[in-house]
Parts: sequence; structure tokens; C-alpha cells
Amino acid sequence: MCGIVGYAGEGSAKAMIVSGLRSLEYRGYDSSGIAIVKRGRLTVRKESGKLKALEARITDPDFDGPVGIGHTRWATHGAPTRENAHPHVSADGRIAIVHNGIIENYMDIKAELIRDHGVEFVSETDSEVIAHLIRLYFEDDLVLAVRKAADRLHGSYALAVVCADDPDRIVAIRRNAAPLIAAHCEEGGLIASDIPALLPYTRDVYIVEDGELAIVTKQGVELYDEDGTRMKRTRTHIDWDIAAAEKVGYDHFMQKEIYEQPAAIRETLARRLSKDGRILLDDLGLTKEELGQTDRIYIVACGTAYHAGLLGKTMIERYAKIPVEVDRSSEFRYREPLITDQTLVICISQSGETTDTLEALRDAKRRGARVLSVVNVVGSSIARASDHVFYTWAGPEIAVASTKAYTTQLVSLYLIALYMGLMCKTTTKDEAAVLIEGLRGTPALIQEVLDGQDKIVELAKQHYKKEKIFFAGRGMDVATAEEASLKLKEITYINSFAIAAGELKHGTIALITKDVFFFALATQTKLYDKMLSNVKEMKARQAQVVALCKVSDPRLSEAADDAAFIPDCSDEIAPVVAIVFFQLFAYHVARLRGREIDQPRNLAKSVTVE
Ligand code: F6R
Repeated sequence: MCGIVGYAGEGSAKAMIVSGLRSLEYRGYDSSGIAIVKRGRLTVRKESGKLKALEARITDPDFDGPVGIGHTRWATHGAPTRENAHPHVSADGRIAIVHNGIIENYMDIKAELIRDHGVEFVSETDSEVIAHLIRLYFEDDLVLAVRKAADRLHGSYALAVVCADDPDRIVAIRRNAAPLIAAHCEEGGLIASDIPALLPYTRDVYIVEDGELAIVTKQGVELYDEDGTRMKRTRTHIDWDIAAAEKVGYDHFMQKEIYEQPAAIRETLARRLSKDGRILLDDLGLTKEELGQTDRIYIVACGTAYHAGLLGKTMIERYAKIPVEVDRSSEFRYREPLITDQTLVICISQSGETTDTLEALRDAKRRGARVLSVVNVVGSSIARASDHVFYTWAGPEIAVASTKAYTTQLVSLYLIALYMGLMCKTTTKDEAAVLIEGLRGTPALIQEVLDGQDKIVELAKQHYKKEKIFFAGRGMDVATAEEASLKLKEITYINSFAIAAGELKHGTIALITKDVFFFALATQTKLYDKMLSNVKEMKARQAQVVALCKVSDPRLSEAADDAAFIPDCSDEIAPVVAIVFFQLFAYHVARLRGREIDQPRNLAKSVTVE
């Protein structure tokens, strides 16, 4: 979740690194730092807070050179202070490192370095041990020293290292999960933890695979495997545009990404549906025989992706009649799930780098499961570790709060469910055609929600000061309530709750008072009457209730204090449309509360620690 950038060339390392860090700031943003190597001298500057705080400290032209590494940090070990910021430097000031990931055995190494070598530590981080360890092994070959140090480290990490005594190159290494990308362009060699940092310079990048070491110089990039054998690697061409990773006129990335949903869904569908409505998923290798033998499916994901999984379960069970369980990745591998070689695991992840999901995937594979993943970032760790990948084509999602990744995950899971149903002959072509038509209609329906935002803004203005907000629904509305609540709490910091409405009377109703603002989701036709009873229960306890209904079925609005509407659609399509309403509600409330919408406190975009 931290960002790494490195440059080796003839130009200004400072300028290249700052520009790269700016585009990676969303990955980790509580402190940052840069190390520059120039004529056998290493200089480091670090600062806590946003990148602009660091930029203010490095304006002097003396702080620059042809080689350097930089980092934006999202604190895991130790507070976000200047001391804990990266780069970390060896005690003699000759070696600097930046690190993304976690060193699980750092306490043992730290104790050894203090006891046997008298090293004095200046930070509370796990990462600092790496700089001292490399120094311990360094004689005259940085590559060798990095390798020896890496062999001592347990955990997951991407590292970039520079050395005043080996001044022309950056040595980088990647083990277990943390992503690393290298490139060579006119200006020189580059290394980064994510593609946007490199896009201003080149579209052709080398993906550093797990266990590999990269040497980056102004002449180019060399990749070596764990045994030190030089690897040949073709470059991966990135075909999305840098503009796609910038705000282009919107006030926030989140706002831009909410608006991009019709296009993102169209793109995702276009890749998987032929003009005549055939679902093009044969490359996933889900044969009729395999599906026939599949005893169960586990959907494994975190956060927003987990909520998509809840709806994926409904759809797969409904259309393919295969039992599905949905697990939070962080729980999955610790609960000894019943996995056989007839089990299919579906991992859902926007970033494709979430450690909890990646480790759950690896565990499932070790136990014999086949893994299909639904991933947004092409070539990401989860995509590469899976047997089959269904890419969502949402484009880069920069805002921490996930929006377009979620709706594209939903349509992807719907297509997977239909495909399985057709293969298993539990779904007829006619049934499939109805849902496909519904999916094809979602971009236009979402556009209607985007165009009719006045009501959402009005509700946000009325309720943005509330401290307790509930979202409740039934059936497919439960997942929407969960996701709506997560969106609201992460960007507004309001205490929000989601609940299956039928559960209210089993305990949570004790919290309902006149101060509660209550969203009653009522898009599921056959559960309408049940929701009506819930609304009455809430009204009897004086909560302020707003119902979200389909425009064609406004019955609930009469029982509630107020109502808002989504365009008419089937119950199955409603979750894809209704969530856009709540994304916008969260967005407008966050604006009114003056929150940092794209970078909410304590959160980072890609969670590469357990
Ligand atoms: C919430 C959010 C997170 C992610 C979760 C999984 O808006 O973005 O809950 O959904 O951290 O991330 P991915 O999908 O990258 O595995």
C-alpha cells in the first residue's frame, strides 16, 4: 500500500521521483521521502504528512542527482513521523532503501543487529532492519548484499535500494505479493510499485515477478531469478491512458469514477458478450464436465469486493444451482474450509494485490481448489496466481472508496452465473436473454441516476450532520445496504450501520430513536410488504425514514417520511443501479462535511499487508 519510485539516468532524479510519487500518493500518504545518490554521496530528505510537505523541503537545487529512490508511506509499524518515513539508511549513511510490505521477522533481526553489531535504530519500523542488514553484507557488490539480506527476510516485500559506493544503479527485489514494475525510457531506467508512476515516460513495462531481482541503470533493466540467472522478459504494453488516471475536470477521483460507471460497464460487457447475446467465457476453462463435478463454490474477497460476492452468490445459486459460500479473505484460510479438487474458489479484487485475498487464494490452491478470479488490474498478483481470470474493465480506480470496480464486479459475476447456468443446463437461453438485456440496460439506468442527482443533494443537505445512519433492506438489497453503509462511513466518518431488515427486531431495534436517520431499501418487489412492516416499526420509534423505491412501485414512500427513486428495472438489476444512488449520497455528505474524499483518514487504496 506504500508507493515506491526509483530513477537512474542522467536527468533530475528529484523531478522524476516527485512526479512518480504524486501519481502514487493514493497508495499511501502519511509521510514520504527521497534518497539521492550523486558523485558517491547519498542524501536523504523525509517528511511526515502529505507529499507537498516533502516537496516544500526539497526545493534547493543542491538536493538532486542522477540516481534516486522515493517512497510514500502508509503507516503499519510506527506512527507516521519523519523518523519512520522511508527511505531508511544504514548507520554509515551509505545505503538507502524503500520498502513496501511487511517484514515478519524484523524483531529477531533487530535484536541480532543490536546485540552482535551494535546498530542503533532511529525508527520504529520493520523496514529499517533491511538497510542495516544490507550494509552488513555489503563488501563491493550491492546485488550480492541485497540477495543475502533478502534471504534473511520473512514476509512480503518490494524493495528498492541505492548505495553511495555503487552509485549508478538501483537494485530492486520482490518477494510474495508486493508489486514492482520496471521500465526503460529515453530519460533512463525506472522502477515503481504501480503503473501510473511510469506512464508519463513509457507504456512498455517489465513486470518484476515474485522472487525476481531487478537492476535498473540509465542503460536499461536487467531481471534475474532467485538463482541469479538472467531472465528474458517481454515488456507488457499498457493501453490505458494517463488521462484515465487523472481527474480531468472532476473535483475528486471518486466523483469521476462514479460518473465513469456507465462506460466501465459497457466496456466490461463488450468484452464478454457477442452482438447476438452469446456469453464469451470459454477461455475461463469452466467446462461442462468440470462444473458438473464442482461440489461447491467459495467466493473470497474483502470490503467492497466482498459485498459484490454476496450478490454473486445469489446469482450463481439461482442460475447455476451450485452451492456458494461467501467468505471474507481474512477469515477464509484460518477456518479450514472444506476444499477438495472439486471446489472452485472465486476471488474478487479490484487491485489484485490485496494480501488477505492473495493468501487465501494460495491456500485454496494448496488444498487443491481451482481458482477463478475477478480482477480489475491486469497482470496483478491475484490475476497471475489464478487458474483463470475474468478482468473487469473499469480502468484505473484511484479514489480509495471503490465505486466503478464494484458495479463492474457485479455485472461480471452476473455473467459468470449465467454462463455457468447455461453450461449446467439449469438456465434456459430465454432466461439468460432476459438478464442479458437487463445488464445491457444498466449503463442507461445509471446515467438516469447520475442525471437526477438533485434529490440526492437535497437529502445530503438535510442529513449530513446526522451521527447515526442505518441502511436496511431485504433479499438482494442487503448487500446494497452493506455497501452503501461502507461507502458512507469510509468517506464521511459517520457511524453507519447496515442490516438485513428482518434482523432489526432481534436486537438492533434497541438503537432506534428519533435521532436515527434510516434508509429503507425497497427495490425487491416480492419483499415489499415485509419492508413496509419494517418501515412502520421504525416510524413507531420516531426514526426519520427515507425509502428508496423503484419509480414504478412507490408504495413504501407513503409510509416513510420521504422517498427517493431509482428507474424501473428488474429486482436483479436493481443492486447495480441503486448503489450508484448511495455512492452519490456518501459523496455529497462527505463534501458537505469537508472531508478528504479521495484519501480518507487511515485508509489506503491497496491493502498489501495482512
Ligand atoms: C472500500 C474499498 C475496500 C476494498 C477492499 C478490497 O471502498 O475499496 O473495502 O474493496 O480493500 O480491495 P481489492 O478489491 O483491491 O481486493
